[in-house]
Amino acid sequence: MKFTWEKVKKPILALAPMEGYTDSAFRQLVKEYAPGVVCFTEFTSADALKYNSKKSIGKIGFEKIEKPLIVQLFGKHPDHFVEAIKYVEESGADGIDINMGCPAKNVVASQHGSALLKNPELAAEITHSIVQNTKLPVSVKMRIGFKEYNEADFTDFCLNLEKAGATNLTIHGRTTKQGYSGLADWDPIYRIKKLLKINVIGNGDVTSPEIALEKLKNLDGIMVGRATFGNPLIMYHIYKALYPKSKKIASMPTWIEVATKQIRLSVEVKGEKRGMLEMRKHLAAYIKGFPGAAKYRAKLVRVETEKEALGILDEIKDISL
Ligand SMILES: Cc1cc2nc3c(=O)[nH]c(=O)nc-3n(C[C@H](O)[C@H](O)[C@H](O)COP(=O)(O)O)c2cc1C
Repeated sequence: MKFTWEKVKKPILALAPMEGYTDSAFRQLVKEYAPGVVCFTEFTSADALKYNSKKSIGKIGFEKIEKPLIVQLFGKHPDHFVEAIKYVEESGADGIDINMGCPAKNVVASQHGSALLKNPELAAEITHSIVQNTKLPVSVKMRIGFKEYNEADFTDFCLNLEKAGATNLTIHGRTTKQGYSGLADWDPIYRIKKLLKINVIGNGDVTSPEIALEKLKNLDGIMVGRATFGNPLIMYHIYKALYPKSKKIASMPTWIEVATKQIRLSVEVKGEKRGMLEMRKHLAAYIKGFPGAAKYRAKLVRVETEKEALGILDEIKDISL
């Protein structure tokens, strides 16, 4: 069945797009344990796709298990987004998401990502241009403001995106200025949901099934990001809390089994050299907080081969039980 934001099962549980983390290997891992999750790709430059960048085309690639899979694009030129659409459609993805939330200095300086929050006309124009040129559902991921939260501006911004044809807004309850500091404020998200007909997914600081249940309120779903670092199984636990009757994992894997699976997937997707390089930070995240973690962390952030990583995990096995 064709994916649409209207028809997708609610409440939605989405895996946040996270550059450098939620690559195809990680998404496959999450979906293996939590098949009901909606995945987003890491943000990918619409400009780079327009210019046929092989790297960017590779970045939006995925396996069937990751579906429904939404490709996230960033940029500022409506016509470049339109040219990028064909790559997304050819990939077989289920939707296009526009990044209007990235606070990174270099991204904002080039008027991309959350800089669009300061330019509501352009944000709506980009959305409208994409909607007019694809049959895929179009969504936006954004923050509650740039410098600060202003209810009137935020409301206008969201209503304009709805008018432009977006059918889902995922809203992170922080401003750009806040970056990742302080706590996400979900009140503006609950309020805007009451004014919109389209879906609203809330995002920010969901770190447990209990918090997910508490935050959901009138929203269509929850998006989870950083809490999945070193703990992809959290998506299973949150999904189970949202859908208590969903299928249980017959035999719960240990974190070592999960990490081992991720190593295998990462090497499969990116080859051993790059796959292991990218696994380093994930492996460090798996052991965060364990007694004696520092010693193993130092080793894990230097691993180069699959064999080496599995050897270290084997050493850790005894201390982490
Ligand atoms: C390392 C990292 C990379 C991120 N990359 C993206 C991205 O590519 N696109 C995007 O929309 N948000 C990105 N985000 C923001 C997350 O999707 C999410 O909005 C944010 O982490 C808040 O959710 P959380 O508290 O559940 O982590 C990133 C966040 C982190 C920590």
